[in-house]
Amino acid sequence: MGFEDKIAVVTGGSRGIGRAIALELGSQGACVVVNYNRAADAAEEVGKAIQEAGGQSAVFQADVSDFSQCEALIKFAIQHFGDLHILVNNAGITRDGLIMTMKEADWDAVIDTNLKSTFACSKVAVRHMMRKRYGRIINITSVAGLIGNAGQTNYSASKAGQIGFTKALAREVAPRKVTVNAVAAGVFETEIWEGVPDDIRESLAGLVPLGRSGDPAELAKVVAFIASDDAAYITGHVLTVDGGISMH
Ligand SMILES: NC(=O)c1ccc[n+]([C@@H]2O[C@H](COP(=O)([O-])OP(=O)(O)OC[C@H]3O[C@@H](n4cnc5c(N)ncnc54)[C@H](O)[C@@H]3O)[C@@H](O)[C@H]2O)c1
Repeated sequence: MGFEDKIAVVTGGSRGIGRAIALELGSQGACVVVNYNRAADAAEEVGKAIQEAGGQSAVFQADVSDFSQCEALIKFAIQHFGDLHILVNNAGITRDGLIMTMKEADWDAVIDTNLKSTFACSKVAVRHMMRKRYGRIINITSVAGLIGNAGQTNYSASKAGQIGFTKALAREVAPRKVTVNAVAAGVFETEIWEGVPDDIRESLAGLVPLGRSGDPAELAKVVAFIASDDAAYITGHVLTVDGGISMH
């Protein structure tokens, strides 16, 4: 139980990797605000599971592609639990397509949801964290942001953008003891792969040196470590959790 006195916000916490992170932090005693956009029932279920595991939780609806809703989310956490120590920018979407067919709306939706949300939530959170001289911001990026992925120019750009953002913000806020890191995920079994044909999924998983896709709970353990007091001397880092897919 490493997070008894810690308040955390996890964006997109109702399913997949965000759900696993919310449950991990909550089961280690954190008060977790589970953000969701549409799936209220799923978010409530995560909140309940956190409470059953000994943590505290609240759910908050916000579309993180919208700046003012990010502001409302962070302000809610600070008001509801009285503080904010950990922000996990996890919410993300894909709108895949080769560039010749990619619509402007597909570009904008992915950049706004994956990258602008990271800016917006961090901007509001960091003001509080800097004042308190404590903070952990963790951005869930992707190996697509490191090595690219055909058919995902929008997604890869958003994820590479999160990495540049992580390093720049880490430098800005380091004097106030706030750390900013990114976790670059490889292939994890979540609903983000819905609609991607099985053969493509399987061939991607086949490229993983460790020979399998990841379990969101494995990623959540890594995020929990970076969010912990033990990781106080790590900032501006991009940690790949990808079974070796991006090693070079
Ligand atoms: N699953 C993978 O293989 C993988 C690989 C690399 C990176 N990632 C990243 O991990 C993160 C989580 O992905 P996942 O695999 O759990 O996918 P997922 O689709 O299961 O979950 C994404 C979550 O984000 C939420 N979300 C989407 N748009 C939102 C919005 N506008 N406002 C608030 N919430 C919103 C969804 O409701 C959902 O809860 C994403 O940033 C994704 O890019 C995933």
